[in-house]
Amino acid sequence: MISTDIVEQLKMEETPLYYYDLSLLRETIACAKQAADRWGYHIHYAIKANNNPRILQEISQQGLGADCVSGLEIEHAIDQGFTAKNIVFAGVGKTDKEIRIALAQQILAFNVESLDELKVIGSLAEEMKTQARIALRINPNIDAQTHHYITTGLDENKFGIMMHELEDCLTWIRTHATVLTLVGLHFHVGSQITDWNVFKRLCLKVNEWNEWFVDRGITVPILNVGGGVGVNYTDPTSDPIVDFEAFFAIFNQFLTPKKGQEIHFELGRSLVATCGSLISRVLYIKNGVKKNFAILDAGMTELLRPALYQAYHKIECLTVRESQEQQSIYYDVVGPICESSDCFGKNVALPELTRGDLIAIRSAGAYGEVMSSRYNLRQPLNYYFKE
Ligand code: LLP
Repeated sequence: MISTDIVEQLKMEETPLYYYDLSLLRETIACAKQAADRWGYHIHYAIKANNNPRILQEISQQGLGADCVSGLEIEHAIDQGFTAKNIVFAGVGKTDKEIRIALAQQILAFNVESLDELKVIGSLAEEMKTQARIALRINPNIDAQTHHYITTGLDENKFGIMMHELEDCLTWIRTHATVLTLVGLHFHVGSQITDWNVFKRLCLKVNEWNEWFVDRGITVPILNVGGGVGVNYTDPTSDPIVDFEAFFAIFNQFLTPKKGQEIHFELGRSLVATCGSLISRVLYIKNGVKKNFAILDAGMTELLRPALYQAYHKIECLTVRESQEQQSIYYDVVGPICESSDCFGKNVALPELTRGDLIAIRSAGAYGEVMSSRYNLRQPLNYYFKE
């Protein structure tokens, strides 16, 4: 919750703006780190969730690694304090230029998603007279029970190496050992996973694949099980930090790594979602035929998730006056963009709003700012960082 003295300061700021609670961020990272350390697990922060430099500096300072999906993310991560030897690089469509950046930086591992990609990485490494460390991303065909747009571990998804290509990948690595070193297996089945049985099923699949490699005489040093932990969008105030202890305990219970194998995670949303809110002003109230509309100065251009995934974000009025506390009115809370999908929430119970009221759209720290656009030539974002 945003305190009243900060609301007073926000009243003087230009909106829309991204508000980040850095102390909550620090606490979240510390909790995750402490819980991972208990089992000797390694966390790579998935930079795609939020690449704001202030956020990255806080996370790199606590010693986490980074999970990148583009050459620019790799360079940005290093600029913000992450060390190259702690960076993994995923993505089905890495360009030659991006692969060269990663090779030059000597990153920890390429999470390789196809045989074709493996061959290109090998030939570029040869050309640069260097070696590439490879983690093979395996598609385990597990249903993450989440929105279909953010499901990645099913046969029908473009991600990971399909079973029939795996043997060929292994042969290719073996026959190109001067440039390719197999350092790990990688998995990631989806995002905003709230049914933790999914992680149990993932562990069992990882065990099977680990055995498959052991049967072929290979014990890879790293098992990277990806990210995907869901956060509580409904109640971010009373449940701001994921129970990381319980989360990692699942892996401790169900994964059976071989001696010396390291377990790595790629957490994005669960580290940054709750510390961010999109702050907006009510521009107009429109009482429609069937609906009351609260029209904000923020729209799908600042936070795309509701429009793209029908995602729920808690909407709060920050400028409630005492007389309003009792009564609620139902509003469709919408933005100014020329699309009917530009709606943050339908039938949202709020105190009676008037022009100028400040609205917080909560849990916007992950996949919020990073997915913003200049559609409609919107103005650049403003920020407020709470220490
Ligand atoms: N590792 C890989 C290979 C990934 O593809 C992702 C996310 C992560 C890790 C981090 O997952 P997380 O811990 O954040 O769930 N824009 C969507 C989410 C897309 C997730 C993409 N991959 C949203 O707003 O819900």
